[in-house]
Amino acid sequence: MKENVIERNTFFGDPELDADLPKVNEVFWSSLIGHIEQDLRVPPRVILDIGCHTGGLLQRLNQRFSPAEMFGVEPLAVARLEASRRFEGVVPRIWLLDPSEWDRIPSGAVDLVTSHETLYLEANVRDFMKRVRRALSPTGSAYLVLGCHSDNPLWETWKAQMRADGHCVYDHFPFEIMKDASYEGLLPSVQPLRSSGWITYDPLHAKFLNRTEQAPR
Ligand SMILES: C[S@@+](CC[C@H](N)C(=O)[O-])C[C@H]1O[C@@H](n2cnc3c(N)ncnc32)[C@H](O)[C@@H]1O
Repeated sequence: MKENVIERNTFFGDPELDADLPKVNEVFWSSLIGHIEQDLRVPPRVILDIGCHTGGLLQRLNQRFSPAEMFGVEPLAVARLEASRRFEGVVPRIWLLDPSEWDRIPSGAVDLVTSHETLYLEANVRDFMKRVRRALSPTGSAYLVLGCHSDNPLWETWKAQMRADGHCVYDHFPFEIMKDASYEGLLPSVQPLRSSGWITYDPLHAKFLNRTEQAPR
């Protein structure tokens, strides 16, 4: 198994799957933005997205909230490059950082932290929460979306595929995640991302799982 720090050109090992991420995740990003809209009284001035890939969610957040400054943390250099192209001339201040550059995010500067489906790639949740806590402003909020966790019955299957693709992935337990957040001075709250709506999924044509299986013709 390769470490996540080893340089990859794509997250999924298949450029098509990486390119599909914004389409696949659109419904989840929209729900997330809906929750943020409901919660925040003042639009966030500074936004940080952890695991920003090519900046799709940051783009949606920028369109909705027009922040003064945005940060993205992403280990894939090719994804950061694509994100920087996406934002060229579009946003006044954007910083796309490797995880080794977390220290470049000023302490207490960030009003809104988002992280969509990234925590399962983090070995140390407590350390992750420490970094989030340091970055957050005193009135800031963090929204961490997690489908990949120990309580999801699909996780065992997804996990096997991720490992086959060379990722280091971790079993994080929701209760422990919340405990680690609390240890680091955050107030953990939880709710389902979506409370209605269909998930459209056709196992015969799914690209992520069973890649070697051919759909019948
Ligand atoms: C499943 S993808 C999700 C991408 C994006 N958040 C979305 O919603 O489409 C997980 C992303 O997290 C990134 N990642 C992996 N390890 C990370 C780390 N330690 N810190 C930040 N991002 C990481 C991966 O390179 C990948 O782009």
